[in-house]
Formats: sequence, C-alpha cells, structure tokens
Amino acid sequence: MKTDKFSPKYWEEKYKNNNIGWNIGYPSTPIKEYIDQLKDKSVKVLIPGAGNGYEAEYLYNKGFTNVWVLDLAKNPLENLKQRLPNFPDKQLIQGDFFKHNAQYDLIIEQTFFCALDPVLRDKYVVKMATLLKPHGKLVGLLFDFELTVQGPPFGGCAEEYKKRFLKYFKIKVLERAHNSIKPRNKRELFVIFENQFKT
Ligand SMILES: C[S@@+](CC[C@H](N)C(=O)[O-])C[C@H]1O[C@@H](n2cnc3c(N)ncnc32)[C@H](O)[C@@H]1O
Repeated sequence: MKTDKFSPKYWEEKYKNNNIGWNIGYPSTPIKEYIDQLKDKSVKVLIPGAGNGYEAEYLYNKGFTNVWVLDLAKNPLENLKQRLPNFPDKQLIQGDFFKHNAQYDLIIEQTFFCALDPVLRDKYVVKMATLLKPHGKLVGLLFDFELTVQGPPFGGCAEEYKKRFLKYFKIKVLERAHNSIKPRNKRELFVIFENQFKT
C-alpha cells in the first residue's frame, strides 16, 4: 500500500508558517457538547492528529485526567503544553497514529481523517478499531462534501463512511451536525461509532 504522502515535515512546516486554516482556536461546539454530557471522568481518551488540542484542553480543565494527545508535529504539542503547563508530558505524544499502540475508551476525531491521504482510509478504520477497547467509541466530526483530488482537507459522505466503518463498528450516530461552527455549517457529520472489532 502507498504510504502517507503528507510527511511529518509537511505538517511541521504548516505550523511553522502559520498556514493552519483548520485551527479554530477553541473546542468545536459539537464535540464540546458531547463532552459536556459525559459523566465518567476517568475514561481514557485519545485525540489523534490533535493539532493545538483545544478539545484536550477542554477535557483536562473539566477534570478528565486520562487524556492522551497524539500528533506528528511537535509545534502544536508545545503550544498545548504552554497553555496547560500541568498537562502530563507522557500524555503528549509526538508520533504517527498508525504506529501508536494502546487501548482507549474514547477516541475523538476532528479534521484528522480528512487530513490523511485518502488511500489510508481503510487502514484508519482498522487502526481505530484496534486502538479502542471492545465497545469503545470513536466520536467526532467527519466532513460532508465531495471527495476532491486536491487536499487536505479531503471530503467524503455518509454513504462512504457507512461502508467503511460498518465492517468494524456499530454506527450509533451518523447525522448532519446541528451545532457546527459557522464556517462548517452543513458541511460536517457528527458521528458516534461503537467498536465491534473482535480479535
Ligand atoms: C488538519 S490538522 C487538524 C488538527 C486538529 N485536529 C484541529 O482540528 O485543529 C491535522 C493534524 O493531523 C496531524 N497528523 C497528520 N498525519 C498524522 C499521523 N499519521 N499521525 C498523527 N498525526 C498526524 C497533523 O500534524 C495535524 O496536526
């Protein structure tokens, strides 16, 4: 299989040049509202391709301590550490999602799937299923616009996501987000996928 053509250097340069159009600067509303209704603050959460990690910051400030942040690029991890000096270093991981090994109750997706070379989509699905505990959840946002040749971001649609994720996940929610931030209004789907992967 072809490997990801977007190297760590590609992403590092984007942060260095402040070419980060995806960066909202605060936790996105659909994910924030999902977090707000979670009762168990001991859940082990992974945010892969977390960038500046506003959702991780939000979780941490709400008392979720088992939050793990993973990104290829160092720069955004340093930014998060500056904003949250007490965030444990070991939970800030600079590395490749596809090489990461651990087990989580919850994984949060936001503009990570769409940032990957689309040839990696099936690999992403399998990797997510592997990283989640049985019945663990992948929750977040997937873009709802045409898959373009140029990207990132690369688009997709509900039909495609259903086809790909159904192999390993129970689709609990896959619907147009009703509380997107303005620039993403009607352009993203809120998803809750429950891991059904059996080894
Ligand atoms: C479009 S940005 C989104 C960042 C963040 N989720 C947000 O919404 O602000 C994609 C992020 O994924 C990271 N990334 C890309 N490929 C990765 C990989 N294979 N493993 C870990 N992180 C990766 C990039 O460094 C970048 O920070």
